[in-house]
Amino acid sequence: MKKIVIASNNVGKLTEIAAILSPLEIEIVAQSTLGVPEAEEPYCTFVENALAKARNASRHTGLPALADDSGICVAALNGAPGVHSARFADEATSNTAGGHGSQDQRNNEKLLKLLANESNRKAHYCCVIVLTRHANDPQPIVCEAEWHGEIVMTPRGTGGFGYDPLFMVPELRRTGAELKAEDKNRISHRAKALAMLATRLAESTKPPHRTFRTPFRR
Ligand code: IMP
Repeated sequence: MKKIVIASNNVGKLTEIAAILSPLEIEIVAQSTLGVPEAEEPYCTFVENALAKARNASRHTGLPALADDSGICVAALNGAPGVHSARFADEATSNTAGGHGSQDQRNNEKLLKLLANESNRKAHYCCVIVLTRHANDPQPIVCEAEWHGEIVMTPRGTGGFGYDPLFMVPELRRTGAELKAEDKNRISHRAKALAMLATRLAESTKPPHRTFRTPFRR
C-alpha cells in the first residue's frame, strides 16, 4: 500500500495521524485535497461512523482510506459526549453553555458546566481507526483503543486540541494540552490504535511463510 487518503478534515487529527504514521513509507493525502465531500456520521457507535467515513473516501478516490472516529466518554454522563464530542456544545439540551469562542472552547465550557457538582471525574478517550482497501472491502481493518484519565476543574495547557485542556493523565498529573506533541503521540488513544494498524499493515504485506510439509510425500 503506497498511498492512503485520510478521511478527516480535522487539522488536529490530521497532524497527529501524519506524525504517528511517518515511519511507514506510505504517502498520506488529506481527503480535502482530493475534493472528497464529508460523509454523514449518523450512527451511535464510533466503529460505524469510522467505517462510513473510510468507505466514503475510498468510493470518491478509488484509494485505500483511513478514517478515525473518536471522542471523549465521561463516566458521570453515561459515556456522553461520545460520538457527539465534536459538536457537543451545539446539541439542544437545557444545559448548553451557549456563549462565544471556538467550537472546542464551547464544548469544554459545556462539559465543565455539566460536571460542576460531580465528584466522579473519570473519563476516557476512545479512538476507532478503520482502513478500507477499497469502497467494497469486505474485511476492513478495524483497530480500537482507549486512553483513560480525569476531567480537571479548569482548562490547563495550550497544546493538543479538543478536550485536551480538560483531560488529565493521572500518572503524569498533566492534561493532554500540557504534554509535548511527541509524548501525546506515544500514549494517546489515537497513537495506540494507529500502532495496532501499523502492525496489521506490516503483517498483511509479509510474504506468506510455509510451515508444513505435505504428509503424502515418501
Ligand atoms: P470526530 O471527528 O467525529 O471523530 O470527532 C472527534 C472529536 O472528539 C474531536 O472534534 C474532539 O472534540 C474529540 N477528540 C477526539 N480525539 C481527541 C484528542 O486526542 N484530544 C482532544 N479531543 C479529542
